[in-house]
Amino acid sequence: MPLAGRSDLRRLARSSLDLIEGHQHSSGAYPASPDYPVYRYSWLRDGAFIADAMSRAGRPDSAERFFGWCARVLDARADRIADLVDRVGRGEDVPAEQMLPTRYTLDGGDGDEPWWDFQLDGYGTWLWALVAHATRHGRSLEPYRSAVASTVDYLVAFGDRPCYDWWEEHAEHRHVATLGAVVAGLRAVTDVPAGDGGPLLDPARASTARLRTAGVEGLIHIETTRAGHLTKWLGAPAVDGSLLACLTPFEVVDPHGPVAERTYQQVRDQLLRGGVYRYLGDTFYGGGEWLILTAWLGWHEARTGRVELAAERLRWIAAQATPAGHLPEQVSGNPQDPSRIDEWVHRWGPVATPLLWSHAMFVTLALEVEQ
Ligand code: BGC
Repeated sequence: MPLAGRSDLRRLARSSLDLIEGHQHSSGAYPASPDYPVYRYSWLRDGAFIADAMSRAGRPDSAERFFGWCARVLDARADRIADLVDRVGRGEDVPAEQMLPTRYTLDGGDGDEPWWDFQLDGYGTWLWALVAHATRHGRSLEPYRSAVASTVDYLVAFGDRPCYDWWEEHAEHRHVATLGAVVAGLRAVTDVPAGDGGPLLDPARASTARLRTAGVEGLIHIETTRAGHLTKWLGAPAVDGSLLACLTPFEVVDPHGPVAERTYQQVRDQLLRGGVYRYLGDTFYGGGEWLILTAWLGWHEARTGRVELAAERLRWIAAQATPAGHLPEQVSGNPQDPSRIDEWVHRWGPVATPLLWSHAMFVTLALEVEQ
């Protein structure tokens, strides 16, 4: 693997920012991957972390265009959300197919291709990223008031329901990374001022949000006490790379505490090769190493004083860039099951490249390592 020097790393970080901004739609949406047919949509999950990287890297206007897009997507669905919340409040069992989608077309539509659509984490993550951005750059949250309120109502009503995870799998489980995003989003908006117009949430909404947050934190806590570390889903001891987000940046558990450390060690010991697997047994493109998760491991390492390891992750990610400087979603050098690569290549084409989220996480890690 060619070793990238400091200036190569800086160049890749800069070109990553340009690539993200270059592909940002005029609506503000970030496509997950412009060249991979099924990813020409904007996911709240990918988008929120991409916006977070843009905000950290001194491109706040791009981040704000994305948050504005999120707000319009949610405001346009305010009645639908109110209806869902109302129905569950009356004791109705609302089917998962009727919940909000996971990804939207770039102009904010629902899209008409079937997808693994009921996922909650993105709704928590956009709230978390929005407040972090506003705090970082001293921006007002006033324009987001109604969209935030709808999102909070939605998360309060449905935040602990089973749904598809970050990898759009296992709709039957309650995934800890998803619950962590719900907690992070609700915590972020509960006690924050909107600008000059007083608190972002009205007192009644803030107090239900606090109650729901405590409930979800309790679920995670019970599970953690049993397993000793965070788990992929409630009720089983396996780990998943997405759990790293519950340590850094969500701080669902103290990132310096024993639960975080045991979770970090489990993820590192079980899932790290050169890069990080999503989970053991993954078969998507044979189950390769994911760039975003490798950046995540490094991000947590940098935040917990292991900067040399973090720098190693950064160099590993840079070494996966194509000659055009594009970062893929995953690489297939150490697949868990090589016999499962071709079926995906036939179904959807080669691995998504460039993946904007991979570029964003590279930037986030580069900023941490530079500090
Ligand atoms: C991943 C998701 C991601 C989506 C778009 C999927 O393959 O599992 O986490 O949001 O791609 O990047």
